Amino acid sequence: MRNGDPCVLVILGASGDLTHRKLIPAMYEMHQAGTLSKFSCILGVSRSKKTDEQWRTELAVWVQKQVKRFDASSWKEFSQRIYYEPGDAAIAEPYQRLGARITQLNSQHSCRGNVLFFMSVAPELYEPIVDQIGSAGLVTEGHRWCSLNQSERSWQRIIVEKPFGNNDASAASLNRSLGRVFDEEAIYRIDHYLGKEVVQSLLAFRFANSIFEPLWNNQYIDHVQITAAEVVGVGQRIAFYDATGAIRDMIQSHLMQVLAFVAMEPPTSFGADHIRSEKIKVIDALQLPDPNRLGDFGALGQYGASSDEKAYTELDGVKPGTTTETFAALRMEFVNWRWAGVPFFIRTGKRMAAKRTQIAIQFKPPAANLFQSVMPGHLSGNRMVIEIAPNEQFSLRFAAKRPGHMSISNVEMMMDYAKAFASEAVEAYGPLMIDAMRGDQCLYKHRLEVEGAWRAIMPFLDERSNGIRKGSQLNYAAGSWGPKAADDLLAREGRAWFNPM
Ligand code: BG6
Repeated sequence: MRNGDPCVLVILGASGDLTHRKLIPAMYEMHQAGTLSKFSCILGVSRSKKTDEQWRTELAVWVQKQVKRFDASSWKEFSQRIYYEPGDAAIAEPYQRLGARITQLNSQHSCRGNVLFFMSVAPELYEPIVDQIGSAGLVTEGHRWCSLNQSERSWQRIIVEKPFGNNDASAASLNRSLGRVFDEEAIYRIDHYLGKEVVQSLLAFRFANSIFEPLWNNQYIDHVQITAAEVVGVGQRIAFYDATGAIRDMIQSHLMQVLAFVAMEPPTSFGADHIRSEKIKVIDALQLPDPNRLGDFGALGQYGASSDEKAYTELDGVKPGTTTETFAALRMEFVNWRWAGVPFFIRTGKRMAAKRTQIAIQFKPPAANLFQSVMPGHLSGNRMVIEIAPNEQFSLRFAAKRPGHMSISNVEMMMDYAKAFASEAVEAYGPLMIDAMRGDQCLYKHRLEVEGAWRAIMPFLDERSNGIRKGSQLNYAAGSWGPKAADDLLAREGRAWFNPM
């Protein structure tokens, strides 16, 4: 794999949780792995006043906590490339200093004029900050950087964290603001699920084999379930979460990406343009639910109290009478030739029975049951489970004859990543940020994917969804698999959630 290009990585929102827990540890791991260019450095920007040295000392504590293979001497070497500039990035005031600092670091570390901005601030600051970056003239892509190879063009790019907007209109507005300053090729909408090994390996699984793809359609697949269940509650992010909810937090971004990888057509090549245009196409094919029958398409819920945590609605900071969902199950369908008639059930929730992120593909049962005498009724149909977390596994359930007399049982065939490949997992942000540093947008979202995903879920977010946001049957016990309404969503069609043991 090509290493990242030289660059100054400017982290806007340097004092935030994301920077401490994910971005700096991820960059340190990439430094250890040798994929971060030696000609690169990091400049953190946020409002609190501190020196380079103070920030390095703060970060050391986080990195030691987050990185298993922390090593004092490589940290020392890496931390010498970390700098800090105080300032409120949403207003014009610090930009002259910031611009001068970036220029100085660029020449000190021979970064060839390349700058990668990382937007790690509160989402309402995205647009003002992009405007300031533009007005300050920090984007000069294409200008030649004279101290190095004359033919080398410098670049400026930006990584934008989720949530990307709060609804379809605000996402489109953010896209317009970004587009006024950066070309689409320079905008990297990050989704850390696309950095997960198993999500990426779905592409290899589907398109580097010939035996699965012929079955991957409405002729053989009965339905698909995508689950992202978490044991944790909303934690310290109460205000953010109460204004966001499970659909925006997990489904609009992460699970829509997983859905697109499961359902998209084969791309022409493993290039960003080809992959992203297939994702745009398939997301566009999602059918909007009938607004008068939303209850048949979705179930929302809020978690109840447990011995160690209050019920969601009782947490300090949650609005009285809040209808924000901590659980959501949606039924989606594509209107296209491959998937017409195949429901995709997507669910996510906090305080559920187990941490589990998985895709379950339920195949149709065999056309006829020849084994009625030993197995009355329908044979159950094959099921493939692709587990993304906590384990990384592909498993296929199929029917086999038990030894001895004729009787049928389901057995499992399994591929476990950790066993098949001896590699240690790294923080998903690291390889994704290196991709942005080398100009690879394969694992980043296009403007149209984001807008399409918002369009598909808007009916569940606006006032039309009020009917499914209220009612005590939607509450669910902490430590369970969600509200009864979610079970009913499938039971109505004679289906059931596949809950891992
Ligand atoms: C984040 C959400 O994007 O993803 C969190 O904001 C959620 O609420 C997290 O906990 C889940 O990520 P992962 O990688 O643990 O599945």
